[in-house]
Amino acid sequence: MCGIVGYVGPRPSQDILLAGLARLEYRGYDSAGIAVIDSEGQLGMRKKAGKLQVLRDSLADAPLADGSTGIGHTRWATHGGPTDVNAHPHLADEGRLALIHNGIIENFAALRDELTAEGVTFVSETDSEVAAALLGREYRASGDLQAAFRSVVNRLEGAFTLLAVHQDEPGLVVGARRNSPLVIGLGEGENFLGSDVAAFVEHTRSALAIGQDQIVAITPASVTVTTFDGEPVDAQPFEVSWNAAAAEKGGWSSFMAKEVAEQPEAVANTIRGRIHDGEVVIPELDGLDDLFTGVRRVIITACGTASYAALVGKYAIEQWARVPVDVELAHELRYRDPVIGSETLVVSISQSGETMDTLMAVKYARERGARTLSICNTQGATIPRESDAVVYTHAGPEVAVASTKAFSAQITALLLLGLHMGRVRGTVSASDSRAAVAELQSLSAKVAQVLAEESEHVSQLAGWMADTRSVLFLGRHVGFPIALEGALKLKEISYIHAEGFAAGELKHGPIALIEPGQPVFVLVPSPRHSALIHSKVVSNIQEIRARGARVIVVAEEGDAAVLPYADEVIRIPLAEPLFEPLLSVVPLQIFAMALATAKGLDVDQPRNLAKSVTVE
Ligand code: G6P
Repeated sequence: MCGIVGYVGPRPSQDILLAGLARLEYRGYDSAGIAVIDSEGQLGMRKKAGKLQVLRDSLADAPLADGSTGIGHTRWATHGGPTDVNAHPHLADEGRLALIHNGIIENFAALRDELTAEGVTFVSETDSEVAAALLGREYRASGDLQAAFRSVVNRLEGAFTLLAVHQDEPGLVVGARRNSPLVIGLGEGENFLGSDVAAFVEHTRSALAIGQDQIVAITPASVTVTTFDGEPVDAQPFEVSWNAAAAEKGGWSSFMAKEVAEQPEAVANTIRGRIHDGEVVIPELDGLDDLFTGVRRVIITACGTASYAALVGKYAIEQWARVPVDVELAHELRYRDPVIGSETLVVSISQSGETMDTLMAVKYARERGARTLSICNTQGATIPRESDAVVYTHAGPEVAVASTKAFSAQITALLLLGLHMGRVRGTVSASDSRAAVAELQSLSAKVAQVLAEESEHVSQLAGWMADTRSVLFLGRHVGFPIALEGALKLKEISYIHAEGFAAGELKHGPIALIEPGQPVFVLVPSPRHSALIHSKVVSNIQEIRARGARVIVVAEEGDAAVLPYADEVIRIPLAEPLFEPLLSVVPLQIFAMALATAKGLDVDQPRNLAKSVTVE
């Protein structure tokens, strides 16, 4: 978490830094700050607790002298609460050096003791100020910011992206990364650094990815990347595939509303270019059939919403590729002794490609000899670069903290992957593949239909339920992960207690929660495919209805069996079972969004959360 931006070039930097921070605010929004070397060569700094607007207001009230070298930070607190003093940048070398940090420095206490013994005093409670003080000390010794960085990074343990400027070296921003993100934006006579490309995409779409344990120095005319020991490195260039307009709200009331509405496109774009003559062809996996043929076990690992996409993927891959699939939360995977070896394929899923827990799980799996494939939405991100292969989702930039269109794109990518694996392993026939592909291609229009036909109805329902204190979600088969996702959306943005259950589990405990008036969403599977599962879910509905639950059913068009027992029915178009999650999740997203809005909450930036969790 924490967003980082750096600029050096001919233009005044403050507006560029603040605009960059606005695009990175999803990474943390409890405080923000900038440091700028002004045209007189003096370092100025301002930082404020609260959202970026508080900093903007402060700068408007009492402007800071501008200059063309600067760094900016938006924080998600780890060490020390969200106060002005704990906000970044942190100063050192008598106010001539400013440093910003994303990550956690695990050995900060020992370093702090060492510096305190040398007479350094600290004003904040952060680990980051320790890095600033250390850099200040090393700068005084060498008078060279890059040399000072080389000494400092080799002393730090943990995860960090650091950027720093020193007023004695105007026109230079130096950065370093270990296990936290940093990318370079290449301009004409100006260069940028950012936690992700969103920080600079309005200025340039040309970018360079920086690897682990590398140091970067940017001036208006040059970009130098080295290892932590100063050896030159060739950074990988890439072109950002979306433009700044894609990351704007564009008239929508919130980014979340926009992103929910963009799901038909996210699904279509993730499929685009990956179907030829009725077959799934994933160009990124060309020549990598051995990833799938020799595999005896698949583990899908992810966190949060992505882990629920993973559960849908389990059903699809097992059905089509006939290989056992386990879904493991990334933060649980490596802290036991899992059975992982060369015949295990570990598929990671991450919108940001930077989630620390997921990254560490991927690294752990590789060390154990597993093959690794990542499903990721962000070009140049770390997780795909640490994996043997990547299938990108093409959802476009997702800004709202609660994931929506990335989730749909992840499921779409998993369906493509499952079919591809099935074909490679010979477990899906050509005709079954063609039928599934046709179904997949019809999905985007069906998602659009749910949005068009149910948005108003579901929003109304949410409005009536604004005072609800608890909502339950039930599903079976692929409806189960969607029940979990529906509950997570509600928790994340409307702060209401919500739980998702496998409907079959109801009688084993959760039914005790049902009391008169308790709202329960039930995801009803299609009766056309498994009359048995359908009838069991209808029985579950009767059981909770009999105990006074207020039942809101999500069911396919024409399913009349649910009508006698439902207080509300939300309709989705007909789809094959594995494809239903892409339709049934949409009303649940809209419900959470409308309920949070009815409660007057900020749906894009919910309390305590950050979109990209780059600490463990
Ligand atoms: C955080 C976010 C969630 C997200 C999860 C995984 O917890 O708040 O919305 O689902 O991280 O993020 P990733 O970028 O790895 O998909």
